[in-house]
Amino acid sequence: MASILKLLVFLLIFLNHEASGRFGTDKENYNWLSTDNDNRHNWYQKARLKASCLERDKTEGRNAVSRCWFFEGMKSWFRRSSISWFPGKTKSWNLTELTDHCNDYYVCMENTKCYKDYVLFETFDRCSHDAFSIGPMSFCNKKLKDFHKNSPGILPSCVVDYLEKAPPKKWACENTKSLGDCLLPQVQKHCDPGLLPIFNEHQAARQYYLGCDGKLKFKDIENVIANSTTNSTEIEIL
Ligand SMILES: *[C@@H]1O[C@H](CO)[C@@H](O)[C@H](O)[C@H]1NC(C)=O
Ligand SMILES: *[C@@H]1O[C@H](CO)[C@@H](O)[C@H](O)[C@H]1NC(C)=O
Ligand SMILES: *[C@@H]1O[C@H](CO)[C@@H](O)[C@H](O)[C@H]1NC(C)=O
Repeated sequence: MASILKLLVFLLIFLNHEASGRFGTDKENYNWLSTDNDNRHNWYQKARLKASCLERDKTEGRNAVSRCWFFEGMKSWFRRSSISWFPGKTKSWNLTELTDHCNDYYVCMENTKCYKDYVLFETFDRCSHDAFSIGPMSFCNKKLKDFHKNSPGILPSCVVDYLEKAPPKKWACENTKSLGDCLLPQVQKHCDPGLLPIFNEHQAARQYYLGCDGKLKFKDIENVIANSTTNSTEIEIL
């Protein structure tokens, strides 16, 4: 009985967070499950799924997607919350450990064979960047904020924007790279030297997941991004 109550309370908290449209109060705490906050409930949004999963009479794929979204999404949310409550414990983690929950979600979604590949990788990038930001990077953000407060006008404007403005809705090659390049010298100057290896690793991983380093080739990502139209051409990873 007690455990059922706990589960109910947990579900209520989960659904409440879902409904309130954000996972936390800090502006870094945006929802990574969706690539776009406005479309957060549209996990079934047509543009994100492969054409083969959208046929009216073929529901298994879509059911599998909603199961992943619910169960893995919930597990992942729980893990994310524990990182945001105790970010200190992530200081000794490597990137694999830090993004473990993202990986579970990714694997479940990949097994449905319904999601377009670039959508999966983009979702992974969003999840891992979120975990990085609320985990090890949160200490660095705090140092940068304190520095900026005590000595205004010294940090480059791109760092100040990063600290003070909401993150972009869409992460792509250019904005991830320029943010990384802009932060790196300040991270070296102001933050714990222990952060640097995982900072660099995370930055390189983002370039990989978003198909910027040439190792992943998503067949129609250019079309989708340039046009932002719904095109159901499937994507191939070379
Ligand atoms: C990350 O840490 C875990 C646990 O300590 C270890 O098993 C794993 O090999 C590490 N991964 C990398 C890429 O270093
Ligand atoms: C949109 O994509 C099509 C290919 O499907 C391409 O021919 C066209 O130039 C693109 N439009 C823009 C504005 O990039
Ligand atoms: C999707 O792209 C293919 C190939 O680029 C094109 O033939 C098709 O018309 C496009 N479909 C839509 C709905 O834009």
